[in-house]
Amino acid sequence: MTDIPTLIRATAQKVEQRLAALLPPQDAEPSATLHRAMRYSIFAGGKRIRPLLCLESAKACGGSEHTALNAACALETLHTYTLIHDDLPCMDNDDLRRGKPTNHKVFGEGMAVLAGDALLTEAFAMAARVPENERYGVRDYVGELARLTGSLFLVGGQALDLEGEGRPLSLREIRAIHLGKTAALIEASVRLGAMSAACSQQQLDSLSFYARNLGLAFQLIDDILDVTSSPEVLGKSIGKDEKAGKATYCALVGLEKARAEARTCTAQARAALNTFAESARTSLLNIADYLLQREF
Ligand code: IPE
Ligand code: IPE
Ligand code: MG
Ligand code: MG
Ligand code: MG
Repeated sequence: MTDIPTLIRATAQKVEQRLAALLPPQDAEPSATLHRAMRYSIFAGGKRIRPLLCLESAKACGGSEHTALNAACALETLHTYTLIHDDLPCMDNDDLRRGKPTNHKVFGEGMAVLAGDALLTEAFAMAARVPENERYGVRDYVGELARLTGSLFLVGGQALDLEGEGRPLSLREIRAIHLGKTAALIEASVRLGAMSAACSQQQLDSLSFYARNLGLAFQLIDDILDVTSSPEVLGKSIGKDEKAGKATYCALVGLEKARAEARTCTAQARAALNTFAESARTSLLNIADYLLQREF
């Protein structure tokens, strides 16, 4: 069995190679600066967790990495746009991302907004290039990606996050933010991967439940690391949530209870895969455990 850090490295390599081919070259007209800005954030590093979940979900449904690769690239490209915009001075105002100065620090705010816009658009072009099968086609890939990343989910979650700054929030409200801003893209990752493998409706439902719970755990850990980690390890500034007056789970109930909640969500994510055969679900189970223990 491949251990997860090795699997992550191998996935990152394949995805980065494909991304390099799919994105416009860095000197492409009409603006080489724009294309450099796009590639700067895409190739700054990053764990490539969403591509990993996309490819492993495809495999869990009997499909291949090869068929799911454009979907994996679409997810990472869309994710990178959210990070560039999330870091802007009008949002979280961050200087450090993936161990490097944030996009707007290097290219300026206007160009960072445009690099995000362009990556978002390219993501849909990539999703449109996922091979069709007997169950799913381009309309499904593009429609699903749009549904989960638009105003009802990802962008809606970011809006709630912004509106929640400086206000006390209930655990319910925090959960709604996490489901939107983080879990929805993770759900899109497993769904597009599974769909590229012509999955059944039951497989799609189980994977979606897995992804939502994994996403909740992922954001809880992100908030915990914002308190406990260091910029050197994390590749981003720390202590930002408290400074911005974000009502996180950690702030509300403390680190220990936040960790316990992350464990509960991970257990629920794992349980969702009981409908899969042991050999099909092992990798996704190990990813859930790995993400709970992660230090960056
Ligand atoms: C950061 O995501 C944003 C959140 C949803 C918490 P990642 O922790 O996956 O960031 P990268 O892609 O590895 O930089
Ligand atoms: C980010 O949440 C979610 C999205 C970018 C959609 P955070 O604001 O907590 O992510 P980091 O900590 O900046 O990576
Ligand atoms: Mg944010
Ligand atoms: Mg942020
Ligand atoms: Mg954070």
